[in-house]
Amino acid sequence: MTIDTLSEMIKIKSPVNGEELGEVPSLSKEQIDALIEKAETEQKSWAKTPVNQRADLLYKWADLLLQRKEAIGDIITKEVGKPYKASVTEVERTVDFIRYTAEDGLRMDGQLTRSNQFPSDNGSRISMATRKPVGIVLAISPFNYPINLAAAKLAPALVAGNGVVFKPATQGALTGQAMIEALKDAGLPDGLVAFATGRGSVIGDHLVQHPAVHMISFTGSTAVGNDIAKKTTMKSLSFELGGKDPAIVLEDADLDLAAKEIVSGAFSYSGQRCTAIKRVLVLDSVADQLVAKLKERIEGLSVGSPWDNADVVPLIDLKSANFVKELIDDAVAKNAKTVLGGMQIENLIHPTLLDDVTEDMRVAWEEPFGPVLPVIRVSSKEEAIRIANKSEYGLQASLFTENINDAFVVADEIEAGTVQLNGKTQRGPDHFPFLGTKGSGIGEQGIRKSIESMTVTKSVVLNLHE
Ligand code: NAP
Ligand code: G3H
Repeated sequence: MTIDTLSEMIKIKSPVNGEELGEVPSLSKEQIDALIEKAETEQKSWAKTPVNQRADLLYKWADLLLQRKEAIGDIITKEVGKPYKASVTEVERTVDFIRYTAEDGLRMDGQLTRSNQFPSDNGSRISMATRKPVGIVLAISPFNYPINLAAAKLAPALVAGNGVVFKPATQGALTGQAMIEALKDAGLPDGLVAFATGRGSVIGDHLVQHPAVHMISFTGSTAVGNDIAKKTTMKSLSFELGGKDPAIVLEDADLDLAAKEIVSGAFSYSGQRCTAIKRVLVLDSVADQLVAKLKERIEGLSVGSPWDNADVVPLIDLKSANFVKELIDDAVAKNAKTVLGGMQIENLIHPTLLDDVTEDMRVAWEEPFGPVLPVIRVSSKEEAIRIANKSEYGLQASLFTENINDAFVVADEIEAGTVQLNGKTQRGPDHFPFLGTKGSGIGEQGIRKSIESMTVTKSVVLNLHE
């Protein structure tokens, strides 16, 4: 399939049982250009629509999503295999996100600044800065939160007065479609959002290099993020990328609490979360105890169907499962100990706990996006910090300790956007600051920051003359 081929259809199949769920068009270059042209035209009047009316659209959209939460939850579970309860919760969380964005959007005021003696103004100039929409935002979302991480781009973009080109993950496009239907039913001006379906490998370059796009809000893998960054020029970028979040467990940690948080952080939705705990760095003196507690909790996880709300469910596709298995096999071949799991049945990987993982193993550094937890034993806090920071990623980290001094000293040293003290790594609440350092991202999210990132300052300067 190429971008020059007119509207071939892509079939979407369930990762759970292969059932064909529907299809979306792979748009051609001409179709995409026509949609973007329409969005550009509509954006001009949308930018002039009073912000309370723009916020009203978001409130109506949120209401409709809430009314449809079970139906949309059903699509999410079918399409990306997320446990059904979590799918419905994702819709509810998205509703909260949209409402909060509407409220924050109303308060995006500007700033008035008086001059000083530069060079001899003596306060005779006043800058009146307001915020303007950037124009057209390209929103590219991943499969794992097909409504939340899409709305987290659309809602701030729209309330700020932008038009949007929305390219959903292909496995996630049916959820995207349902979300856009609700937005249209809420009164979205016709054409303001261009819904651009097609595989990223086919339509991605055209979208990210499109001259009408002013800003790219991308969530996905670091590899694709790097590729986009190399191909675009003169567009502002907000990237949420991969992670290898460590859980650091110090000698004085509450080990029951640590085990509970780590297992929930590592295995929910089979580890298919950017913020999943993807390695444990534990002090030697408490490692045996911690591993025993992790093992006990992992044994209690259910494995099976998302319709039964199993903790560990089939991964998004076979390729992803094969990749996770490769990481496990590499570690085992290099003498890691399989405490639990290690089995693969098609795209289902059983929850796996690996002990005695060392720095020469791929699983110590690569993001599995699957249910495998490597334990690396360390001899000191300093060694834990060194290994935590050696990663190419810097999304979040968890630190378990009862010592408040260590908590702040170690947290300060960790290269990550967020350090969670005595809790699992996680993004929410969605208005908290959220960002990745190093290979984990560019820019800052969190509702207010997201709106800011989709606006630019316009300064009008009043020159006073005596
Ligand atoms: P992905 O393969 O990078 O895909 C993400 C999106 O990019 C999809 O819409 C995909 O479309 C599109 N895409 C693929 N190639 C492209 C290209 N050349 N140009 C433009 N767009 C392109 O990631 P994923 O598998 O969906 O999600 C998993 C990854 O996302 C993990 O690494 C995870 O850590 C990361 N993630 C990060 C965050 C965060 O907040 N930091 C949140 C969620 C996920 P197709 O589906 O059509 O290929
Ligand atoms: O996958 C990335 C999501 O932004 C993670 O959100 O930490 O609330 O699961 P979460």
